[in-house]
Amino acid sequence: QPRIFSGIQPTGHLTLGNYLGAVRRWVQEDQHNADAVFCVVDLHALTVEHDPARMRRLTRQAATLMLAAGLDPDRCTVFVQSHVDEHARLSYLMECTAADGEMRRMIQYKEKVAREQARGRSVRLSLLTYPALMAADILAYGTDEVPVGDDQAQHVELARTLAQRFNQRYGPVFTVPRMTRPQVAARVMNLQDPTSKMGKSHAEAAGIVYLLDEEDVVRKKVMRAVTDSGSEVAYDREAQPGVANLLEVLAACTGGGTPEELAGEYSSYGALKKDTAEAVVEALRPIRARHAQLCADPSYVDGVLRAGAERARGLARPRVNAAYEAVGLLPPS
Ligand code: TYM
Repeated sequence: QPRIFSGIQPTGHLTLGNYLGAVRRWVQEDQHNADAVFCVVDLHALTVEHDPARMRRLTRQAATLMLAAGLDPDRCTVFVQSHVDEHARLSYLMECTAADGEMRRMIQYKEKVAREQARGRSVRLSLLTYPALMAADILAYGTDEVPVGDDQAQHVELARTLAQRFNQRYGPVFTVPRMTRPQVAARVMNLQDPTSKMGKSHAEAAGIVYLLDEEDVVRKKVMRAVTDSGSEVAYDREAQPGVANLLEVLAACTGGGTPEELAGEYSSYGALKKDTAEAVVEALRPIRARHAQLCADPSYVDGVLRAGAERARGLARPRVNAAYEAVGLLPPS
């Protein structure tokens, strides 16, 4: 069975982008077809200014939502990154494998530096080394496949490069992973600004659908989505990004055809928005309901995370120890 690893940051409330780009596939495909490991990557969330109490809440919420969305602890491993020391241990070796310039070239680094500076905040050093920790997350588990949205392509590519470089220098310790992306909705765009990604912490909150939004809020956000001038419904990401985004979301939520096919079924933006709004509401309804149930029983979630961390430690430790030995660190006797 292939090993799959993926993760999600507790930097904000989970969005429809996180769901369609990543979590939904973990639930519907990955946990059934592979030995899959899913992680709330809380250490990554420390790379930008944060509030400790909020982060603790968001970490628990992210884990609860992953289970609510349908991850089954009998089929996959779910845990919190900081509960497994191997991530931080291996991250340091990845920093010793990567070059400074490789880190500075990362698009997300440049974007986040600009964002932090615009808010008058200082840039944490860990923001620069973020991809080393992410490579460690992936490589510690001998991962074959990394199911993520499009925005993670550059990071996964770097993890591949670091695995190859490490193996060449020190011997074959790591599997070289590959990224997998969803067929549709690999990059869900902000509904108010369809040329930028629907991120957890974008300024345009009216354009972000959160998994825990009330149904009426979801409807309102979709109905108010910015569409394009013109009136024909066509699937053209360049010329009509707003409409194309709705078509992708609709296609992903209903599974009833490709965005191109769906475009042919609509003659007005209004009808497209209405159906998309209902499709999103339907897709999120069971998640919200299950989330409410799980919140009533926090000890269940705690138990899942405890068992998940234990299993994750067992999977990661031998490989991380092998990496420590391979680079020439004297093993403790
Ligand atoms: P994060 O927390 O930003 O996002 C979690 C997952 O959701 C996907 N995603 C999207 N997909 C489509 N459209 C969108 N608008 C959208 N927004 C987010 C992301 O691609 C991701 O798959 N660096 C990672 C977390 C991470 C990780 C890892 C992932 C840390 N270590 C190891 C995989 C393997 C991140 O910031 O994801």
